[in-house]
Amino acid sequence: MDHIVLQGINKFYGTNHVLKDIDLTINQGEFMTLLGPSGCGKTTTLRVVAGLENPQSGMLWMGDRLVVNAKEEYFEAPAKRQLNLVFQSYALWPHMTVYDNVAFELNVNKLPKQTIRDLVENALDRMQIGEFAQRYPNELSGGQQQRVAIARAIVNAPKILLLDEPLSNLDAKLRIDMRSELKRLHKEMGTTVLYVTHDQAEALTLSTRIAVFFDGRIEQIDTPLNIYQNPVTIRMADFIGNPRINLLDGKANRMGNTLRVTCSLGDFEFDQALFTDDMPKEDGEFDCKLGIRPEQITLTKKDGFMANVYSVMPAGSETLIQLKVGNDNLLVKLLGLHHYEQDAQVKLKVDPQMINVFHAQTERLVKSVNQDEDMLE
Ligand SMILES: Nc1ncnc2c1ncn2[C@@H]1O[C@H](COP(=O)(O)OP(=O)(O)OP(=O)(O)O)[C@@H](O)[C@H]1O
Ligand SMILES: [Mg+2]
Repeated sequence: MDHIVLQGINKFYGTNHVLKDIDLTINQGEFMTLLGPSGCGKTTTLRVVAGLENPQSGMLWMGDRLVVNAKEEYFEAPAKRQLNLVFQSYALWPHMTVYDNVAFELNVNKLPKQTIRDLVENALDRMQIGEFAQRYPNELSGGQQQRVAIARAIVNAPKILLLDEPLSNLDAKLRIDMRSELKRLHKEMGTTVLYVTHDQAEALTLSTRIAVFFDGRIEQIDTPLNIYQNPVTIRMADFIGNPRINLLDGKANRMGNTLRVTCSLGDFEFDQALFTDDMPKEDGEFDCKLGIRPEQITLTKKDGFMANVYSVMPAGSETLIQLKVGNDNLLVKLLGLHHYEQDAQVKLKVDPQMINVFHAQTERLVKSVNQDEDMLE
């Protein structure tokens, strides 16, 4: 009953077309994240779902209720949509203590006093703000206020929760703590969550699925694993992953059931089992780009492609190594600390299974990576 369906949503501000044909289904109990660069339309999408903005075209369902039908100019009032919201800017009631802010809805609904106390204390503890219960919002830091806003949104275990960059004001350590709290909460409450962030690590760690936006359009909707391993376009591949994916120029040749690829790392042959729908149907040659994640490259003492060390960047838990292979640059990420001399010769290895191949003209993925089933739940 709590799933959300957006169909053909278009939103204009004046002549600025900010949402373009958005089709998105958020299943009951799902943690769906909208991810994309600043200004791509994430907040606007959330506001359309909440009823704070009306689209010029499209339809929106919540469960079996038609909530928006733009053609008929039907827009259900926000209050009727029964969802809880946390905005990018957290609007707390300034004249109420933290405790009263979080308890507000529960008081309105006249729950028993002891129940309210238990629920509020539990929400405050989860957000690690129990000690601030009697303070007023203007006596809190931005990050503390943000956590109060989240506590207020989760206190009544809502069916649908909309969160817009709720962790943006927290320091790195607290952000990780809050991520794990949100993940637990989602599992425990079975809430349907629509979450907005431009932080890809947050999106990848929290979500059941991610919708990636560019410039008002959805580029890919997929599981975190598939978004990372099989980005559908070069732009997606480049956007997801830190450090960035390596993109090498190559020549591809489709011959029936196999694809041969030549690049500075040598020749590879791929079987049609991993071809995507965007693979050219006809046999023949085309320019391609190979996508190789930095952690998919290993350095070896045995046989491998020769490369030169351009620079070494140790960073405690990992070491980044910039290599030159012919005219190509390759970034390698190794776990732990490793020492290599600048300009030294090394040998490298890549598992061909883990290489993405993109068509250079269409920029779409034509050969995918074999999914590691063990990594799926
Ligand atoms: N009220 C408004 N009036 C006019 N234009 C707006 C309004 N709100 C948003 N926009 C424009 O719509 C586009 C999408 O904005 P939106 O806030 O949805 O982006 P976002 O993806 O949430 O970005 P961010 O990551 O910076 O929060 C932007 O170009 C923005 O300037
Ligand atoms: Mg926003």
